[in-house]
Amino acid sequence: MLSGLSKMNKTHHCNELRKSDAGQSISLIGWIDSVRDHGGILFLDLRDREGKTQVVFDPSNEELSALGHQLKPESVLGISGECRERSDDTINVDLPTGEVEVFANDAIVHNLSRTPPFPLDDSTDKVNEDLRLSYRYLDLRRPAGIEALKLRHKASQATRKFFDQNGFLEIETPMLFKSTPEGAREFLVPSRLNPGQFYALPQSPQQYKQMLMVAGVERYYQLARCFRDEDLRADRQPEFTQIDIEMSFIDREDMYALIEGLLVTVWKETLGEDIETPFLRMPFEEAMNRFGSDKPDMRFALEIEDFTEVFRESEFKVFASAAQGGGVVKAFNAKGLADVTQGEMKHLEETAKSLGAKGLAFIKAENGEWKSPILKFLSEGEQANLREKLEVEDSDIIFFAAGDWEASCNILGRIRLESALLLEKRVKLKRNPTDWKFLWVIDFPLMTYDEEQDRYVATHHPFTSPVPEDANLLESEPRKVRGQHYDIVLNGVELGGGSIRIHQPDLQKRVFEDILKIPPDLVQSRFGYMLESFQYGAPPHGGIALGLDRLVATLAQRDSIRDVIAFPKTQKGQDLMTQSPGSVTDKQLRDLHVRSVLPEPES
Ligand code: AMO
Ligand code: AMP
Repeated sequence: MLSGLSKMNKTHHCNELRKSDAGQSISLIGWIDSVRDHGGILFLDLRDREGKTQVVFDPSNEELSALGHQLKPESVLGISGECRERSDDTINVDLPTGEVEVFANDAIVHNLSRTPPFPLDDSTDKVNEDLRLSYRYLDLRRPAGIEALKLRHKASQATRKFFDQNGFLEIETPMLFKSTPEGAREFLVPSRLNPGQFYALPQSPQQYKQMLMVAGVERYYQLARCFRDEDLRADRQPEFTQIDIEMSFIDREDMYALIEGLLVTVWKETLGEDIETPFLRMPFEEAMNRFGSDKPDMRFALEIEDFTEVFRESEFKVFASAAQGGGVVKAFNAKGLADVTQGEMKHLEETAKSLGAKGLAFIKAENGEWKSPILKFLSEGEQANLREKLEVEDSDIIFFAAGDWEASCNILGRIRLESALLLEKRVKLKRNPTDWKFLWVIDFPLMTYDEEQDRYVATHHPFTSPVPEDANLLESEPRKVRGQHYDIVLNGVELGGGSIRIHQPDLQKRVFEDILKIPPDLVQSRFGYMLESFQYGAPPHGGIALGLDRLVATLAQRDSIRDVIAFPKTQKGQDLMTQSPGSVTDKQLRDLHVRSVLPEPES
């Protein structure tokens, strides 16, 4: 008789049974991964969070066999039966449980599934992502989905354990914060109880964590949810999680040691790998000059060189005028890429142009000859200089950028990355995802001049303390002041960033008003409480935040952080499963004292 199985009990997860369990009575509950009918005898793979086990429905048990023939993949099934060793010729070496199977003598169907909209195996990666996100509960059910969630859990647990052992308090900060528009665009929340007023969701717990230092907490951390209404990319979501940290009585060295310790722990506990410390450190300027990026991928060379002086008096006016006009001429050798196709070249040019370049000058070395539309303008000496510094050989190609320093670095930085992709396609370069090249990028400029706003803006945020020996240049040469800011970078990804903060009220006020030119009344309304708090014994302090999503995506070797977030949003910021955002009623808006300015929909 079927369904003596009334309870939800299971003796094992579906990854557990081994030869040594043969002969035991077993019960399992899970999803039907597949059903195969071998002439009346049914083999089905039962799957749960942990793995798969083969279950056999023998035709001699008619009732069971009849039920078995109605089953469809993804139905939820409980079975009990006997664990048996498989004969040598039927062992499945790909499955940890492949040496055994369970002969069912009872079964209960808890839910008969409809046919899923896409197959739930690792070929699912090729299925349209929107469809997968609409059925995220199915997408997550497959091994890659579950594995990503488990890895994220492990990383979070390792983080919590590490901070607990190092004397940090885990403290929650408010989700309903106020608007502080010095940064990314914010999500606003209308206040029903305070008509016409708005909360903002926090872009980060920055101000609260600094207040916790003034409160004497000394060591704070939080796995903090953050919200930024930005244009989305593979490594950006409108809501994401930071491993957020703040400490009192520290300097930059303490922070480097702490984060290196954290990452050693996380790598050990998630991947079982030992990573080497201390990490390399590189000033921002060097990172830009050599790699054209403030988050260089150090797994390959193709380094950029400076040729400004070489071309100062060049016949080639594009280069000469850049050099003479206070700009730079830079170039790098994309080694072995002279066979770049026309289509690829067009893409590279367009990439350069999208970053403000007027063009992308190049020289190809092919069959013992140099070829380029600009070659006729270059003297022997200039060519020799390029050949020597860039170690140009046959089948290489040199790319140039001339003009503003930062723009030229950025352009060649992007072309360097694009070239790496093209070289990988040709198997001429290999970036191993588990070749962990950690790097601290330091000595960022404290301020960056914003042409559009015609004023300085904080490179990171306005609470970053200047490097002490540069502080006297704040008013006279703000451009030259370095900040006590640091970024932690891994294989071309900015994992996190932070700084030693300003804790002196006068200096903070000077930065807001004199340097960033924020009007005093605005400083007062936005940051007044902060400036005031600094007058009541603010300790020297500093902190950092690491993007947990980016960290886990890197550990999981995933290109997109969407793959390691349970319910991510699309590029348009939508949750396709719950269909969010959605509309609300007029009454809801009225209660919130909000009126829509959109035209009435036509009825
Ligand atoms: P920052 O703005 O550099 O610093 O953010 C820290 C880290 O958070 C991650 N991150 C994101 N991850 C996913 N989606 C996003 N939209 C997104 N934006 C940022 C990145 C980034 O390096 N309060 C400061 C930190 C501090 O000074 O202590 C802050 O938020 O990995
Ligand atoms: P032009 O003389 O302006 O036609 O430019 C000659 C070549 O140099 C073309 O291949 C352009 O794409 C390229 N070029 C123009 N301006 C720059 C620049 N600022 N940096 C690098 N290449 C450039």
